[in-house]
Amino acid sequence: MRKRINSMIAGTGSFAPSRILTNYELEKMVETSDEWIITRTGIKERRISEDGTGPSDLALEASKIALKEAGLKPEEIDLILLGTVTPDYLLPSTACILQDKLGAKNAAVLDIVAACSGFIYGLSIASAFIAIGQYRNVLVVGVETLSKILNWEDRNTCVLFGDGAGAALVTPTAEEKGILGTFLSGDGSLANLLHIPIGGARTPLTKDNYDLKKHYICMQGNEVFKSAVRAMDAAAKRIIAEVGLTPDEIDLLIPHQANIRIIEALAKRLKVSMDKVYVNIDRYGNTSAASVPIALDEARKKGAIKEGSNTVLVAFGAGFTWGSAVIRW
Ligand code: ACO
Repeated sequence: MRKRINSMIAGTGSFAPSRILTNYELEKMVETSDEWIITRTGIKERRISEDGTGPSDLALEASKIALKEAGLKPEEIDLILLGTVTPDYLLPSTACILQDKLGAKNAAVLDIVAACSGFIYGLSIASAFIAIGQYRNVLVVGVETLSKILNWEDRNTCVLFGDGAGAALVTPTAEEKGILGTFLSGDGSLANLLHIPIGGARTPLTKDNYDLKKHYICMQGNEVFKSAVRAMDAAAKRIIAEVGLTPDEIDLLIPHQANIRIIEALAKRLKVSMDKVYVNIDRYGNTSAASVPIALDEARKKGAIKEGSNTVLVAFGAGFTWGSAVIRW
């Protein structure tokens, strides 16, 4: 049997729109308060993209940084995997739009609709393609413009989310490091706890159903909360064990940034102290597929990830979908 080829992250990048929306501004839009948002979620502000900006615009900026860091040219990319639930268009995929903007003319292109787990799904698919030798340089992107699919009159959702993009260049490595393992899972029976009921092919958006405002994110937050903690705990433990590590050998945990209480509950269950957990939810809110790669890029650039250290990525999102990965640098 041909030997499995290891893969590593050779470069990362992230980008967020410059417009900051604070909790104080939200106080003027819906019945909420800075105090409620901070204590219930940990969010202080989030980034909002301008009208007319598509996720591919944000993805382009993040991807250019990742490419530069990896020392690769756009035409050397073999595959673009782009996680998003807010595509530029329903058709074609946002990966196609990004390919054109980036000039990655030799790349195969694919969108991944796995909500907040989209980036980890992408990493897993990238490492599988590299392992069998089908592709060498895979650009994995997580990007969202969630501000465009929020009901700004619904305080249950509009305070939680933000826009942004993160990217990673995944390449082969001859060394025993890089993406040591990934785990993916899902449960479609819980789809209606977090979904956009109207606007798909089953129930297209019409003049008659427009005022229902169901073409925006609808969520039963407290149910999602419980599932998120349980699933991310199990996913992180499983992949840590599968790659032969123990929790105390984890140097940095990068969880999906949905709610500081979810992150703290997860850290407690995993027995990882909060000083080993990367948190930026205060500045971005929940950016879904972009959340893990933005945090990963920031952590690397702040020097929070050292050569030889072990990082665990874990995410949970609509679907439900969830996944985890262990990376040795
Ligand atoms: N301001 C003030 N009050 C509010 C607000 C707000 N912005 N939002 C809700 N409330 C109220 C509710 O109406 C409710 O009032 P009531 O008791 O009078 O009915 C009260 O606060 C408590 O509501 P809960 O929903 O029980 O609050 P909870 O503590 O669960 O926090 C939250 C809500 C922040 C949404 C939390 O449940 C959460 O973070 N859930 C998980 C979200 C998540 O992880 N999503 C992941 C995937 S996202 C994706 O895939 C795109």
